[in-house]
Amino acid sequence: MIRYASFALLVLIGYACGSVRHPPTTTPFPHVDLQGRIDKFHVRLEDIMRQMMMQQLYVEERIRSDGQSGIKQIRQYHDGSRPYYSETHTYGGVCSIHNHANYDRTVGMGEVNMVINGVDFRTRHNDYKLRMPSTNSSMFQAMMDIPFPGVPPEVTAKKTLVEQVAEMRQWFRAWKDQDHSTRDYRKYFKPVLCYMEAAWTLDTTHFSEPFSSDRHAIDASSWQDLQDKVRFTSYSGSKHVNENFAYLPTTIMEVVNGTPEFAQWNYRILCHPLKKDIPVKYFHVADDLSARFPHGQTMDVFSESRSARFALYAEDGEKTYSLIDELMSEIPGKDNYVANLKEDVFGELLYDASKTDDTPLNTGYYHRWYKVGKSGSPKEVAHRGFSDRNLWVAQTTQPRIAPMTVEQCTLDPVSQNKTCQSWTRRYTYAVPLEVIYLSPLYSWNPYDLENRPRGSQVSEIQRVGGQTNDTAFNGTGFKTFYRTPPEMFMGKEVERDPADTTKSAVGVLDKHGKVQLAEASGTRIFLPNIPGVGTLRMRYPIVPVHGEGSGVWKELDALKDMVMDMEKYKGLFENPPTLSGSSNVTDSAEMTLHLRTGVATKNPPGPHVHDIFLSHDVQDKLKSGGHATMFTGEALGHSHQVLLGYRNAYTIMQCDGQPQCWDGHPTTLYPVD
Ligand SMILES: *[C@@H]1O[C@H](CO)[C@@H](O)[C@H](O)[C@H]1NC(C)=O
Ligand SMILES: *[C@@H]1O[C@H](CO)[C@@H](O)[C@H](O)[C@H]1NC(C)=O
Ligand SMILES: *[C@@H]1O[C@H](CO)[C@@H](O)[C@H](O)[C@H]1NC(C)=O
Ligand SMILES: *[C@@H]1O[C@H](CO)[C@@H](O)[C@H](O)[C@H]1NC(C)=O
Ligand SMILES: *[C@@H]1O[C@H](CO)[C@@H](O)[C@H](O)[C@H]1NC(C)=O
Repeated sequence: MIRYASFALLVLIGYACGSVRHPPTTTPFPHVDLQGRIDKFHVRLEDIMRQMMMQQLYVEERIRSDGQSGIKQIRQYHDGSRPYYSETHTYGGVCSIHNHANYDRTVGMGEVNMVINGVDFRTRHNDYKLRMPSTNSSMFQAMMDIPFPGVPPEVTAKKTLVEQVAEMRQWFRAWKDQDHSTRDYRKYFKPVLCYMEAAWTLDTTHFSEPFSSDRHAIDASSWQDLQDKVRFTSYSGSKHVNENFAYLPTTIMEVVNGTPEFAQWNYRILCHPLKKDIPVKYFHVADDLSARFPHGQTMDVFSESRSARFALYAEDGEKTYSLIDELMSEIPGKDNYVANLKEDVFGELLYDASKTDDTPLNTGYYHRWYKVGKSGSPKEVAHRGFSDRNLWVAQTTQPRIAPMTVEQCTLDPVSQNKTCQSWTRRYTYAVPLEVIYLSPLYSWNPYDLENRPRGSQVSEIQRVGGQTNDTAFNGTGFKTFYRTPPEMFMGKEVERDPADTTKSAVGVLDKHGKVQLAEASGTRIFLPNIPGVGTLRMRYPIVPVHGEGSGVWKELDALKDMVMDMEKYKGLFENPPTLSGSSNVTDSAEMTLHLRTGVATKNPPGPHVHDIFLSHDVQDKLKSGGHATMFTGEALGHSHQVLLGYRNAYTIMQCDGQPQCWDGHPTTLYPVD
């Protein structure tokens, strides 16, 4: 709608400019008031531009009333006989999250379709970095690296590697048990809250990368170029192979003296190191049935998968100002941590909803609740937006954020004098994405491997992390961040987690030219199994879902809660169900079989495995001698098309049309517990 209107507008502007630039020197029809016509035309043009602004508002209002700020959809890779065999906001992973643990500060996250304050947009492949707004500069987009937690001195004091590993495991055990009595893990396990921030910006001509990634960058030279490319992929339904396009809308923000002021939507992902520890028990898994059901997972299995998303709250039940408000209020808008702003539009000062007294709210930080009212009188608690539960806003003074002005006039009843006052404000929006616990692994370097700074690394093609002098990495770097001794974990990483770029037991040359084996030390969703501790989740996605803001979803959640625990909510049924006490639960594993390939033998790409899920029907078909063609899950950036059969075990009969997979996976598939 807007697009056609913009086109029409451009034609009109072109026409108007043309008429102005070439006025006829002699008027052939003196009785025609040419200037009058041009003036009238300009008035009409301004009306059209204003109407387009209203169209944008109308579109936003419709999206706002459909749901809340949050994720809508991830890219589709699967399909099947029922709609839930394809992606929603989750499937293989919430927000398509994955691991790049071989990078020092890259957090794997794919493309997402988001809604923030009624603006519907699509990101590039995100793979954001662990960075925060600047603490001492208010410069536009000034950011800094998040400091990694240190290593407990109790670990480094140990003489041998074996003792260090044993001590380090005890710290992970303390964190897992949430027991800080003997080892106060809270000093070394630091939660960071990662969030997506979006705003209308005035950078409409010069394209600016919203936030750099070590792996992805928007593949376009200007906003116009990006829009043309996205328009083509939408028109043709095609996908950019590197997932480096984003759909970020443009709008008319203001019409000043007949000239439209355009604004460009842009977003970025940053993280904030939280001031306090968050007990892990505050994360409550959300039952996304559309992801759990197709893979036949029990709640326990599901909550230990990448597909699970969490709600973060300290207490169950109805509450206005809650834990997430407290956490988000630590995050500044575009003025960075030095932000100190007040809001008094329409002459009413906003107060801090977390305080019982009248403390003015620092609106430079993200908030959704506030208090408002005349000074001296009781204040009313209000929420940003009409019904958007996740509309977090922060005020900013950055000139590059598109401003909006509002005017209010009052008529003095006695003198009939009209006094007008206007306010110009700039706002940005944010939604929480996930909480990542940083652990001492980021800093722990027991082999004293040399870390080569960015740019200084010589790339030697034969150094692929092999276990010989010639093939081992020479020291570590930002994308060869392998420093953890393999003794820390039990078994190979790949058996726990088919990660995208993380290799297991990589060879690294130490300062003496000796090959040391190491595991990746960067960000993972789950750490590999630590003996005596288990598999620990380090990333907790808490992203809100757009649809959850709709009445239908609220109704559905209530119904799900009732159906999932009929015994508990029996009293709420109109016609209470008869529940037999000891119903026999069918083993969910019988419904869907989770298989995994053997480890690939070729390097590159390096050791990795792929997942395959077989529905009950396919299992029957294969066991009775039939075949099935399907795609494996993705690992190290690729998947295989396999022809499956059953020969005493599930077997790959053909892989990408060949008898064997090109990277050397064995043909036999193994069931995963
Ligand atoms: C801000 O702090 C960083 C590191 O603490 C420092 O390098 C930088 O110079 C400081 N910038 C300003 C403007 O003070
Ligand atoms: C009304 O406005 C005029 C012009 O601003 C001013 O001169 C006059 O004093 C005002 N009258 C009152 C009663 O405020
Ligand atoms: C490893 O890198 C260092 C520093 O660049 C260099 O001095 C050394 O010779 C390299 N070692 C090997 C075996 O290439
Ligand atoms: C690898 O390097 C180490 C240390 O320089 C040396 O002792 C060892 O003999 C080398 N091994 C091979 C196979 O070259
Ligand atoms: C449940 O199933 C198991 C195994 O099939 C069986 O041994 C048991 O008796 C069943 N229990 C009930 C209550 O039906």
